[in-house]
Amino acid sequence: MLRDTLKTLLSAWGPSGGEHGVADTIKELLGGHVDSMRTDVMGNLIVEKYGTDDNAKRIMISAHMDQIGLVVTSVEKEGYLRVHNVGGIGMKASEYRRVVFENGVEGVLVSQPVQQGEAKLKDMFIDIGAQDREEALSMVQLGDVAVYAPEIFSLGKHRVSAPGMDDRCACALLVELLLYAEDQKNTIVGVFSTQEEVGLRGAKVAAYALEPDLGIGLDVTAWGDTPETKLPDIKLGAGPAVKIMDSSMIATPMVRDALFDAAEAAGVAVQREVLPFGGTDGAAIQHARGGIPSGTLSIPCRYVHSACETIDMRDMEGALKVLLQFVNIV
Ligand code: CO
Ligand code: ZN
Repeated sequence: MLRDTLKTLLSAWGPSGGEHGVADTIKELLGGHVDSMRTDVMGNLIVEKYGTDDNAKRIMISAHMDQIGLVVTSVEKEGYLRVHNVGGIGMKASEYRRVVFENGVEGVLVSQPVQQGEAKLKDMFIDIGAQDREEALSMVQLGDVAVYAPEIFSLGKHRVSAPGMDDRCACALLVELLLYAEDQKNTIVGVFSTQEEVGLRGAKVAAYALEPDLGIGLDVTAWGDTPETKLPDIKLGAGPAVKIMDSSMIATPMVRDALFDAAEAAGVAVQREVLPFGGTDGAAIQHARGGIPSGTLSIPCRYVHSACETIDMRDMEGALKVLLQFVNIV
């Protein structure tokens, strides 16, 4: 079940550079159901399910395991932690947030009063309840990373909200694709990638090494269906989105059109995504070696990079159907 797989993955540990918790969870979910599974130097988990066709194409499908976080840079004598962002941490989304470290230490992310203008990350600190620097350093070390505490809840019948939905929802999709694809024509090279949020680093290395025939990035995209938010022209619940372009890539027309064809064959409504910002693993694959034909299938997501990233499960179900077709028709 997609919703159960999603919840399991949302609960796993995985800031950029420390994705082992998510990787271990995926290994457990996929063990015995795929043809090969290995981890590379970057920590990418690479999972293959072989195609049946003599001329099977190798399709790299990438979903990033990492989520944004906050790394401890120093500790004040009063015991407060100073932090730097790991990936795109927003100030508004961060204030008074409950955060958690891998060892279970919890804290509250707070901004000190600022004289002029808006608070910046350098004005923030994490209060972990320590009396002083010594006690704080017995709880966490410099370089430890905190993430927004994983609070998962349903909104209405179809929607789920949690931190790390970017990109665990795509990890859940890729897990289910690898579980449910059966005797498909082409080989699925599933890459659960690392360090996407700090610059598509894992996928870049994987695409070079794997040299696939085609690439697909799976990621969230932004939304335009809440008050006064008009761009991009994307609605939750209106289907997954086929990316035309964002600031990292212009989808290869052949791959983009094959995604539209797959959607039509699957009877799934899809949206056309033109995003004036952002980037995904799809770009890292497309720009590998001498260029690899690549596109991106997106899950519409509200409040991206907040602790309440919200998706619609109907878009997830649709995306899974599209992918099951895609690996057969392309
Ligand atoms: Co992101
Ligand atoms: Zn993402």
